[in-house]
Amino acid sequence: MKTIVCKEPYKWEITEREKPKCQHGEALVRIQRIGICGTDLHAFCGNQPFFTYPRVLGHELSGTVEEISVNNTKIKVGDQVSVIPYLECGYCPACRSGKTNCCSSLKVLGVHQDGGMTEYISVPTNHLIKMNDLTLEQAAVVEPLSIGAHAVRRAAIRKGEKVLVIGAGPIGFGVMTFAQLQGALVVAMDLNKERLLFCKEKIGIPHTILAGRNAINELRELFDGGLPETVFDATGNVHSMNASFTYPEQGGRLVFVGLVQDNITFSDPDFHQKELTLMSSRNATREDFLHVKQAIQSGKVKVDSFLTHRSNLQEMPNVFKDWLLPETNVLKAIVEV
Ligand SMILES: NC(=O)c1ccc[n+]([C@@H]2O[C@H](COP(=O)([O-])OP(=O)(O)OC[C@H]3O[C@@H](n4cnc5c(N)ncnc54)[C@H](O)[C@@H]3O)[C@@H](O)[C@H]2O)c1
Ligand SMILES: [Zn+2]
Ligand SMILES: [Zn+2]
Repeated sequence: MKTIVCKEPYKWEITEREKPKCQHGEALVRIQRIGICGTDLHAFCGNQPFFTYPRVLGHELSGTVEEISVNNTKIKVGDQVSVIPYLECGYCPACRSGKTNCCSSLKVLGVHQDGGMTEYISVPTNHLIKMNDLTLEQAAVVEPLSIGAHAVRRAAIRKGEKVLVIGAGPIGFGVMTFAQLQGALVVAMDLNKERLLFCKEKIGIPHTILAGRNAINELRELFDGGLPETVFDATGNVHSMNASFTYPEQGGRLVFVGLVQDNITFSDPDFHQKELTLMSSRNATREDFLHVKQAIQSGKVKVDSFLTHRSNLQEMPNVFKDWLLPETNVLKAIVEV
């Protein structure tokens, strides 16, 4: 089977590998669509920390079940599925408390072990979700949208709550989408005007703010002198994350969905004076995947608008370099296998 390996930073290799064996407890999935995200771009450029090469990338996966070993999941051969790429140990304290998304020895397909830029993978059956009512493209982007859905669930966003989402990339879009679905009043902030326009036109965010010195005044104007009860930072930018402590209302919450290889610094008196709650949000769980599936199936969430670029597996190594260029305005590229 054809497999694309990232041999080392900036180097792809198209190879033929043996089709994996479907081990006990696993299902063999024919991969049909692969979503590309920042993680893949960073891995290719060699600036993904803790990454080892060679590695088969790809963790936003959809396809069809070809073979299944034992079956206690109601998934059948021929079913269309999404893959939950986070392989948890199942017995650490986090796993035992249901927080498999932050398992202490988590292995993510396409990150810590070989992923889906190939024709077949064999994965534990309990890491598949049936997606027969979704298109293959929709099924491939359930994973990135689940990141946002998880952050929103973790923050327990309520109807009518004022929410600011900083960072209007694919991850921020997911946060905005699912916060709006909860009935929150969402404002988007970014440095990039085009992305803010996209938030307005495609996600239906009524108010957007250009990040900068005046942002806090604009927020107060929008919220009748008040500030958002919950602020999500989905930038992965240390300056934005440091500044984000100023935006939540007294007693509010700050959720870091974006992550950064750096120290975050903030003023403790300000943090205490507001009695802020600070949270991180990592990956997603099956519950989040099911929530996203349902939202897409019911038509409440439209994904087609943010699928901006396409390729097939064979051509992917050639077009991938274009996806690294800001001027190509990639939001989500999809590889067809
Ligand atoms: N929580 C998780 O499990 C999880 C999963 C995947 C990705 N992530 C992280 O989420 C973050 C966002 O991912 P993405 O793919 O959407 O990235 P992206 O780079 O496409 O989007 C980030 C956005 O933030 C904006 N931005 C950068 N600096 C800013 C600043 N100072 N002020 C305002 N806006 C600013 C950029 O203009 C951009 O639009 C990354 O840090 C990524 O590593 C987290
Ligand atoms: Zn991703
Ligand atoms: Zn675990």
